Amino acid sequence: MNNKTIVFGAAGQLGQCLKRVVEDNSLDGYIFADSKEGDILNVDAIEALFKKYNPTHCVNCAAYTAVDKAESDEQTAFAINKTGAENLADMCNAYDVVLIHISTDFVFGGDADRPLNELSATNPMSIYGQSKLAGEQVIPTVLNNYFILRTGWLYSEYGNNFVKTILRIGKERGEIKVINDQTGTPTYAMDLAKAITQIIASGSNKYGLYHYANEGIATWFDFAVAIHQMAGTGVTVLPIPTSEYPTPAKRPIYSVMDKSKIKQALNITIPDWKDSLKVCLSKLTQ
Ligand SMILES: NC(=O)c1ccc[n+]([C@@H]2O[C@H](COP(=O)([O-])OP(=O)(O)OC[C@H]3O[C@@H](n4cnc5c(N)ncnc54)[C@H](OP(=O)(O)O)[C@@H]3O)[C@@H](O)[C@H]2O)c1
Repeated sequence: MNNKTIVFGAAGQLGQCLKRVVEDNSLDGYIFADSKEGDILNVDAIEALFKKYNPTHCVNCAAYTAVDKAESDEQTAFAINKTGAENLADMCNAYDVVLIHISTDFVFGGDADRPLNELSATNPMSIYGQSKLAGEQVIPTVLNNYFILRTGWLYSEYGNNFVKTILRIGKERGEIKVINDQTGTPTYAMDLAKAITQIIASGSNKYGLYHYANEGIATWFDFAVAIHQMAGTGVTVLPIPTSEYPTPAKRPIYSVMDKSKIKQALNITIPDWKDSLKVCLSKLTQ
């Protein structure tokens, strides 16, 4: 049977990367729905798309991603990140569709000192993290055929992200200060998008929770230094502690993820974050 995939949240960063990967590789059978035609809080709209396209797979790139704003907008964050995920899972269950849902390393508390795997205890420090964890937890209560991919620190040539912001403010100021005591892994959303298309093409039924980030480890400071070095801007990047850059939402101090499961079970190869950053920067400066 040929796969047919509906992508929700198509106008977001990851949604746009998926579209790019599908176009670049001439992949068939993808339908992209933005928040207007595919509001994941509108069950009738979701069902209309399922009836119209009869999909085998559904990718949920839709989310409430304003991490700091969520601290004062808990209801909306939970509506989109929990109820929206539940709506898609319900529909996937009713129409026998495989759901690929995206979650976050912000479900972790950040007190670990070694890479976190899928069995590591969660303890979100923010409303955003709590709402994403609630989304992860509700899906298995209504659906068996799901892949939940936890990722972190996404960037790409699309949408607003750390790489674009750091390049812009570096050019404006000549010298920037960046946090050096939060450790994770920058992840090129194009790599994640490719992994999603590979999982779909494989027809795998090894359902469950998986970690996907690029290989390697960095602090936000390391990431910013690499961005400006590789882009050859001459901008000075100085390290600061989190205490000098307070934000409404607390972030994990350490959220490096162990990707062994996805590499072994789903045969996904993962590039190193510095190699992928080079690719992204070459596209941004084209
Ligand atoms: N960005 C990161 O660093 C990061 C890190 C870890 C995990 N993640 C996860 O990765 C996934 C993709 O993130 P991203 O960076 O692509 O986020 P993004 O750029 O903020 O895109 C999210 C998209 O969701 C859409 N959306 C919001 N409410 C919706 C609704 N009710 N129905 C349908 N669509 C709706 C938004 O559309 P409108 O703008 O039209 O509302 C937007 O296009 C998310 O699950 C996120 O939690 C992201």
